[in-house]
Amino acid sequence: PPPTLLEAENAVIGQGVIESNHAGFTGTGFVNYDNLVGSYVEFTVTAAQAGTATLTFRYANGTAVGRPMDITVNGTLAAGGLAFDPTGAWPTWTTRTVTVPLAAGANTVRATATTANGGPNLDRLSV
Ligand code: GCU
Ligand code: CA
Repeated sequence: PPPTLLEAENAVIGQGVIESNHAGFTGTGFVNYDNLVGSYVEFTVTAAQAGTATLTFRYANGTAVGRPMDITVNGTLAAGGLAFDPTGAWPTWTTRTVTVPLAAGANTVRATATTANGGPNLDRLSV
């Protein structure tokens, strides 16, 4: 089946703002994480059955420094300090994938910044 596209601007945002000032995003904008430890975006991912799934985060990081994030699924750490490396410019978007376990039904997938720089700008999650 085609991937399900979940726009960050429709997700639950903990310390961040929806913006649209850097071109190339999908949907109506992206989330600009507040630049601090603990800012997050939380998606609801529905799975038909339990098993592993590949999550694809589309992001931009226009700085020279990585913006790692912890990826949790239903509150359990699935990927600690997942790297979101520089993309060269804020309007330059790329993807980062990670494989995680999902339960059948609704899952909460949260991407939380682990450094004082906050997360990257996050456009969407594809599953
Ligand atoms: C700039 C940029 C933002 C980005 C921020 C950051 O202000 O315009 O989109 O989120 O840098 O460093 O996090
Ligand atoms: Ca930011």
